[in-house]
Amino acid sequence: MAVDWDAHWWLSQVATDPNYREDVIPLLIDMLRPVPEDLYLDLGCGEGQGMRAVRAAGARAIGCDQDRVLLDQARLDGPVVQCHLPELGWLGEEAVDGAYAVLVLEHIDDFERLLVEAARTVVAGGVLVIIANHPAFTAPGAGPLIDPGDGEVTWRWGAYLAPGTSVEPAGSFNLMMYHRPLGTLLTAAGQAGWMLEALVERGPGDAAAERDPLLAAQRNIPRLIGLRFQNAAPP
Ligand SMILES: C[S@@+](CC[C@H](N)C(=O)[O-])C[C@H]1O[C@@H](n2cnc3c(N)ncnc32)[C@H](O)[C@@H]1O
Repeated sequence: MAVDWDAHWWLSQVATDPNYREDVIPLLIDMLRPVPEDLYLDLGCGEGQGMRAVRAAGARAIGCDQDRVLLDQARLDGPVVQCHLPELGWLGEEAVDGAYAVLVLEHIDDFERLLVEAARTVVAGGVLVIIANHPAFTAPGAGPLIDPGDGEVTWRWGAYLAPGTSVEPAGSFNLMMYHRPLGTLLTAAGQAGWMLEALVERGPGDAAAERDPLLAAQRNIPRLIGLRFQNAAPP
């Protein structure tokens, strides 16, 4: 069953957001370190921002997404497949050198199966990179709190420790977001055969902070997390 996704909203309002170009995609490239000519699977490629950046680094990408409108743009940057994640049955074992998911895991119900399927389709020793909104700050009920005295931004944790869902407005649709505490995510990745190589946390970047005082006050709050794993499956 396809997920409701407002592709037109994504294309006009989010894909063009400078924070994406300045913060999200650079974090992907820092974590993935694409090897020229290697083939990477973009899980939930959207309109292809990640694929473009991987291609610009001299590597190749194959995209998959459930949204046909977004795929029509992404195909300018490489081959694409319409699919409903975590379903990767259309791809053979060890078919790609690495895989990545940018702001996608939080939309996937059965993320454990996605991690297992990624381990099946990536070569032994290959990489998986996950870029996500930091789960410590996106639990149901979480959000910024502004101290009226000095303007300091702190954070309401919400229901961090329990896996849960929240419904977020996204253009003309409401999206279901899946929250998992970091331990749940890392344990599932380990059980699927992924060995953690690096974990990077980033707050809003310089340009974002300059544009938006609320983001400037969050410079020390890690809004994004990047995870790099190696496929530890025996060769
Ligand atoms: C926040 S967007 C990120 C798009 C892209 N990774 C990027 O960084 O530009 C999430 C993407 O995940 C896709 N998506 C959500 N659930 C999906 C599923 N179950 N199977 C395939 N794609 C899915 C949506 O269509 C959308 O393109």
